[in-house]
Amino acid sequence: MEKIIIKGGHRLFGRVAVEGAKNAVLPLQAAGILASTGTLHLTNVPVLSDVLMMNELLKFLNIRVQFNQENHVIDLNASQKVSSEAPFQYVSKMRASMVVMGPLLARTGYAKIALPGGCAIGSRPIDLHLKGLRQLGAVIEQHDGYIEARADRLVGTNIYLDFPSVGATQNIMMAATLAEGITTIENCAREPEIVDLANALNKMGARVHGAGTDVIRIQGVNFLHGCDYRVMSDRIEAGTFMIAAAATNGDVVIENAESKYNEPLIAKLQDMGVTVIDQDDGIRVLGTSVLLPSTVQTAPYPGFPTDLQPQMTVLQLLANGTSMMNETVFEKRFMHLEELRRMNAEYQIKNSTAVLSGPTKFSGAEVATTDLRAGAALVIAGLVAQGITQVRNLKYLDRGYYHLHQKLAQLGAQIDRVNIDDQIELASAKEVNHPERG
Ligand code: EPZ
Repeated sequence: MEKIIIKGGHRLFGRVAVEGAKNAVLPLQAAGILASTGTLHLTNVPVLSDVLMMNELLKFLNIRVQFNQENHVIDLNASQKVSSEAPFQYVSKMRASMVVMGPLLARTGYAKIALPGGCAIGSRPIDLHLKGLRQLGAVIEQHDGYIEARADRLVGTNIYLDFPSVGATQNIMMAATLAEGITTIENCAREPEIVDLANALNKMGARVHGAGTDVIRIQGVNFLHGCDYRVMSDRIEAGTFMIAAAATNGDVVIENAESKYNEPLIAKLQDMGVTVIDQDDGIRVLGTSVLLPSTVQTAPYPGFPTDLQPQMTVLQLLANGTSMMNETVFEKRFMHLEELRRMNAEYQIKNSTAVLSGPTKFSGAEVATTDLRAGAALVIAGLVAQGITQVRNLKYLDRGYYHLHQKLAQLGAQIDRVNIDDQIELASAKEVNHPERG
């Protein structure tokens, strides 16, 4: 079993570069299904287990996939006949597989997708995806744990999303690129990753307007072709390192980061006494010895991103006073606090709000990751904890962070990723904690 072992108390100094965005590249990979000619050549692709899983699904769908991990390049060619079933073994491991439904419907007129399960952060329904695709003319049935969608032709229409769902916006937008006529998606998601997808689709010959606003308008075309496209940088990885720098009272430049994608986080960091400097080569974050408490509420973009909520609660727990975190996007995204309590965190949860008591003197412990961003939060807590912290269930971290422990080690953290059994590990932890005992 692999674990990350951290000896806390080391401030982070130096420079770190973030990768391409996980939440941009996954729908971009799915968009490759839409190109009936040519190759979709994606660059700045992060080497993450979710990306590898999406590639496996696309190969299953008879898409030709080449992933040059060293150069961070994926080439997708869907000019052969595309099959249309996304089986359980893929969808159950990665909910983002859902975004192949719209492209499959548009390209082949049929899609059979295993129903995704829930996950640690919430039930994750797909009703908005299905509502939009039905409005485009798809006949959708559910049986045996699968969603089966058929559409002889998709016809453009006006769609209103009850919630600005990222995945539903992506699925509907991609389906509409090959529909007849004009589709408008009102109250759509405005995330930068939506804009990235729309930009790529337009380079592939689509006609998508308004991405980044709350109304997207798509003029259907007859076919799409390949193109070259560079994936945007990962604003959530950047935000994670910004919070880690602040938590350790460090001085870190996050390269490839764009402050325009992290405005809510930057504003909150500054409220807490952290200095954030927008530089030509990235974002510089200077910590402070006394953090001020803050009140944060997550919201769809351009609000504070739910994907930085767990990491931010660690910083708030370090602040001198009581902070509040209101999670409005997912119904179960405070699981990390249970683990942080084992590291001395004190908090109360009232409905969707965590009341966080600081300043916390985190103490090292063995903790378990429950989801991707919770894992990042536990690592950040380990960086500032007294003693040794061991983080397990690293498969969640690997879904969204590339070489996290190496990047933190390069910034001065005393951190390693080890693959040892429990007995040896316990001995080494005691050795580090109590060298005098030998
Ligand atoms: C995307 O998930 C991201 N994943 C998530 O990142 C992110 O947290 C989320 O958007 C919100 O920003 C990817 O892009 C691969 P949603 P998605 O549909 O599309 C409800 C990470 O850590 N909803 O915007 O699944 C849903 O229950 C991951 O990188 C419906 O009710 O998010 C949730 O409460 C975690 N019906 C809310 O909307 C639907 O049909 C947000 O979901 C769809 C969603």
